[in-house]
This record gives sequence, structure tokens and C-alpha cells, in this order.
Amino acid sequence: MAGRRLFIRPTRASDRARVLDLHRAAFGPHEGPVIADLVADLLDDPTAAPRLSLLAERDGRPLGHILFTRATLSPDPGGIQARLLCPLAVSPELQEQGIGGALIREGLSRLREAGCDLVFVLGHPGYYPRHGFHPCRPVSAPYPIPAQNADAWMVRGLSPDALERVEGTTLGCATALDLPHLWAE
Ligand SMILES: CC(C)(COP(=O)(O)OP(=O)(O)OC[C@H]1O[C@@H](n2cnc3c(N)ncnc32)[C@H](O)[C@@H]1OP(=O)(O)O)[C@@H](O)C(=O)NCCC(=O)NCCS
Repeated sequence: MAGRRLFIRPTRASDRARVLDLHRAAFGPHEGPVIADLVADLLDDPTAAPRLSLLAERDGRPLGHILFTRATLSPDPGGIQARLLCPLAVSPELQEQGIGGALIREGLSRLREAGCDLVFVLGHPGYYPRHGFHPCRPVSAPYPIPAQNADAWMVRGLSPDALERVEGTTLGCATALDLPHLWAE
């Protein structure tokens, strides 16, 4: 693929069907439809805003998508902006070529510029730490994470000292993500 540049940009309303197709393909026949529905709900959910929805494409072909949505902290420590990364998908035949990593880096860079302090994710503990995430002890997830998945609940600080300021809080998420079964596995 040398010379064919990966282009990452915010999604538009007209990208919707292609974005949902990407998630269906990346997550497979069992999980894919559930995740695609979740993305559709999050794109429509007013409580998910401000959101950051980025599409990676090459030669106009969509290759990957990442979504960050608004998160709150309770009790509110004041002055901390948080987002939840969910979900991230790369087209199956193009995985392991750095596209997922490029989407994460671009997303974190845009969020930092927008003044975001903390980004949370429930994801693969072998993947996200290579992008600065680490298991999150100070902040509880919206629903209890099963003990065997404890390390999948992760956070990435974007501003100094933000994590110390949120010790003992619980994350709140967009209504579309506020369902216990989404946090159970
Ligand atoms: C997970 C996913 C987004 C990663 O994107 P990608 O573009 O394939 O990943 P990158 O090219 O940036 O990174 C590849 C590296 O991450 C590792 N990696 C990929 N998926 C991983 C996982 N689930 N767990 C641990 N490591 C993983 C690869 O082994 C590779 O390692 P290497 O650099 O040491 O060879 C992509 O594989 C995908 O869409 N998977 C299906 C949907 C999914 O699981 N999404 C994440 C939900 S939390």
C-alpha cells in the first residue's frame, strides 16, 4: 500500500451506512449486528454529545471507524472532561496494518486539543496499553466489570494530574451505552 495515504476525517451523515457495515464486518456475524445497532444509537443519542466519530479511508474506501462519546463523573470533581472510546473497528482484511492504531492516535490528539482530560475504554487489555491506556482503578465503570475482565477497564490521561482528581468517582455514559449487558463481557 506504499504511497497510498491513509486519510482520517470526521464522519458525515452520508457515511452512516458504510460505518455500520464496517462494524458488522469487523465484529463478525454474532457480535457485528449488535455493535452496528449500538453505533447507530450512539450517533443519534443526544446524551452522547459531544462525540468524536472518525473514519479512516484510502482512495475513498472506508477502512476503519472509531467513536468517542461523552462521559460524566459522579460525584463531579469539577473541571474534568471525559470521553468513552466505544467502539473501534477495522475492516477484517486490513487488520494488523496499523489502521486501528492510527485512528486511536488521531482521536486522542483531537480530544487533547479540544480540552479533554481522560479517555476511558472497555477493551482488549493486550491492545490498548500500546496506546497509553492502563487498567483503571480510580474510576468505577458504569456497571461492575466481572473480576476476570478487570484489566479490560482502562483509562488514558490526556492532561497532567487528571486521574488523581477523579479518584473514587463512577463513570456515567450516554444513554445508548447505559445497559448492563454491554459491560458484562
Ligand atoms: C482490534 C482492532 C480494532 C485493531 O485494529 P488493527 O488495525 O487491526 O490493529 P493495529 O494494526 O493498530 O495493531 C496491530 C497490533 O495489535 C495487536 N492486536 C490486534 N488486535 C488485538 C487484540 N484483540 N488483542 C491484543 N492485541 C491485538 C496485533 O497483534 C498487532 O500486534 P503487533 O503490532 O505486535 O504485530 C481490529 O483488529 C478490529 O477491528 N477487530 C475486531 C473488532 C474489535 O475487536 N474491536 C475492538 C473492540 S475493543
